[in-house]
Amino acid sequence: MSKEYIFVKQSLNLNGIANLSGAKNAVLPIMAALILTNGKSELENVPESADVIQMINLLQDLGAKVLFDSEKKILNVDTSTINSFELKPEVMNKMRASILVMGSLLARFGQVKAALPGGCSIGKRPVDFHLQSFKKMRVEIQETGHFLIASLNFDLANKLDHKIVLEYPSVGATENVAMLAAGLPDSQTIIVNAALEPEVLDFLDVLRKMGAQVDILPPATIRIRGIKNLKPLKHKVIPDRLEAGSILLAAAITGGQVELPDARADHMDLFLEKLKEMGHEIIIGENDIGISFKAVQNPRAVSFKTGPYPGFPTDLQAPMMAVQCLAEGESLIEETVFENRFLHVKELQKMGADLQVIGSKVSVTGVKEFIGSNVLASDIRACAALALAGLAAKGSTEIRGVFHWRRGYDKLEDKLALLGGKIKITS
Ligand code: EPZ
Repeated sequence: MSKEYIFVKQSLNLNGIANLSGAKNAVLPIMAALILTNGKSELENVPESADVIQMINLLQDLGAKVLFDSEKKILNVDTSTINSFELKPEVMNKMRASILVMGSLLARFGQVKAALPGGCSIGKRPVDFHLQSFKKMRVEIQETGHFLIASLNFDLANKLDHKIVLEYPSVGATENVAMLAAGLPDSQTIIVNAALEPEVLDFLDVLRKMGAQVDILPPATIRIRGIKNLKPLKHKVIPDRLEAGSILLAAAITGGQVELPDARADHMDLFLEKLKEMGHEIIIGENDIGISFKAVQNPRAVSFKTGPYPGFPTDLQAPMMAVQCLAEGESLIEETVFENRFLHVKELQKMGADLQVIGSKVSVTGVKEFIGSNVLASDIRACAALALAGLAAKGSTEIRGVFHWRRGYDKLEDKLALLGGKIKITS
């Protein structure tokens, strides 16, 4: 385990302006979609996070030429030199989002060889919805141990229309199916019960820029008609609503006041409603761009339940739980998306939180304060929750599992420090 840890000291009244990085969960599927094209694309507002670097390595492994200007946050990808459809285990096991290149490799080569992605601390993370959907689109899949070999009967798949009904609005399965569908020039694919998170919509915008016809129909249906020779493109990635939420919650838990001039408030409606329910003051900019936040001094605890968009985002459950721990009164938090996303509970309890896990729910009783402690992060968002708790806690806190933080954020510690947070990564 790396000797690095996040060192946090009590830092009340965070204050100032923060600029957001591009959305990790938009840029990863968008990078995977570039495999559908043959040529040079340019992406702007690309976060320099470990997952993005991992996806760059994956594209280079397939033969693409990639240049990342991490200062300007611009990624240039030339996919004309891609010459492989095999995903090595060491690549797949580093990042489960690697599964997202399956759809585009099948569309480009008619085949893909991949190690099945591993699970992680928040759940088994199966890919059955992806594989079931591909089979319905005339993909033959052989699974041998941890490997799978998939081959597409292109002529058949391209002659037919496809209707994929997802059992659950899976973000990754929606994106994977959409990528294969965009590569079938003579067929139309309908995805029923599709995921429509802002990151998915940004990804669908990229498929449109490539030339695919993409319509979104009520209630949650995506209709895609592919074209031959999908075109390279330029695209600016949407701002990260999960980073925005974490910064707002850092201001909430420290009693501070922050401005997020580039935040997309329309990507965060229910989350912002919950902050208002606590008593916090929120002003939204014109056209839903920009959020001003001022913490109320004695926030009320609020209950919430995570769910597919536009429900409360599961990726803000942990940081929002940390904030409820210091709010007045009782609240009940229900996690409906992942089966094991409460590993931050025992770490928050070490800091003095009064929490009780009851199946997929956690009951929270507000306490007066957190006490700084040595804690361990189990996933990206648990790490954010513990960092926020550390900013409010008396004394200092050491958070291990820094690689989670680096996977999900582009130097968020520097942004919090600019707002007055005493937080840094050290060893
Ligand atoms: C995406 O993961 C995000 N990752 C996750 O963010 C996010 O939490 C999740 O969507 C839900 O919003 C990226 O976009 C890279 P799902 P994904 O398929 O696509 C089950 C973060 O912290 N499921 O919508 O993997 C699955 O186990 C990460 O940034 C199956 O059972 O999520 C989960 O319980 C964490 N079979 C539920 O569905 C499948 O084939 C939702 O998963 C696929 C998923």
